Amino acid sequence: MGDKRLLAEKIVYKIIKAYGLSLKSEHIERVLSELVRLEMSEDGMFVVAKNLLDIGESYFFRDLETWKALEGLLEEGKSYRALSLGCSEGEEVYTFKFVAHSRGSSLEILGLDASETRIRKAREGIYSLWKLRRMNEDEIEKYFYKIGDFYRVKDGYRMGTDFVVANVLDGLPSGEYDFILARRLLIYLNEEASLRVLEWISTRLKEDGHLILGKGEVYTEVLKYFEPVNINGAIFWKVKGFGEEEDFQLVEEQFESQERSYISIVRDFINRKMYTQALEYIRRAKEEGFETCELMKYEVIALMYFGDVEGARKVLQETKELFPYCEGLSALERVVE
Ligand SMILES: C[S@@+](CC[C@H](N)C(=O)[O-])C[C@H]1O[C@@H](n2cnc3c(N)ncnc32)[C@H](O)[C@@H]1O
Repeated sequence: MGDKRLLAEKIVYKIIKAYGLSLKSEHIERVLSELVRLEMSEDGMFVVAKNLLDIGESYFFRDLETWKALEGLLEEGKSYRALSLGCSEGEEVYTFKFVAHSRGSSLEILGLDASETRIRKAREGIYSLWKLRRMNEDEIEKYFYKIGDFYRVKDGYRMGTDFVVANVLDGLPSGEYDFILARRLLIYLNEEASLRVLEWISTRLKEDGHLILGKGEVYTEVLKYFEPVNINGAIFWKVKGFGEEEDFQLVEEQFESQERSYISIVRDFINRKMYTQALEYIRRAKEEGFETCELMKYEVIALMYFGDVEGARKVLQETKELFPYCEGLSALERVVE
């Protein structure tokens, strides 16, 4: 076991060094224990380690709901500025350009990544078909030139893009942005570093600007500076406190939309069997006054998953008292019996 652990560490730290990654220690530890568990050759372990470390793998139109939501949000004829943190090989930068173009809006976007190799590839804008796997033939033809087996982003979509090699922990590029994407970046940072980056982001977003995280990414750190908003069915994040002078009806609408966002985030966690995150998020939602029958039902389910039958019964009892006409409570009663 000792030798295997040493080999796993050698592989993991070699990859971390090669890709210039700064990963959370819990994440590294999870990868190491998974590698130690596997009966594999060194080469096999290398491949698995790369996958587990989520080595910057990205592709065009990843998180399709996000791009559809963005498309609905952008206004024709308007100009936008965006920043993509942890942009990998530029896939999301160009995807955003395609979306803006199809809406008839103009976009300047800067992609930042710690990896020199990836930024070089982003500037080249040449990709394998695998990276285009979410696009149909018409889209591929519209946005790319074919060069042998590869695809190069057409010049028109490269205009207004820029890329920089930088460590996000050294600070953000200057300027104010309508959108800041930080998708699958915070997993690499510890809590203190995440908070620092999120605070910077909150000062760089325009008043009506949005932070965009990866699908299903919710960290408690985010809630310190941001609140979720439901944009055409996707969760985006707005800086807390912006829009305090809205009239009562708007505040009420915002409250309802936030409530729906909480429910949809928790539902997502439950569907993905991420019960710890679901419970954490329910706690936050309750703290902020979002106590709904749906959330409480999810709480019962999550508590049952952890075998906390007593806790589940208590929450179910509270739910019945607070929301006696809520549907589905009798089915849950049978579960906690
Ligand atoms: C998993 S990829 C995400 C790519 C893309 N945003 C997406 O969601 O598909 C994470 C990227 O973050 C970059 N990264 C990690 N730590 C970073 C840091 N401290 N500063 C800048 N980039 C970093 C990695 O090099 C990698 O390309």
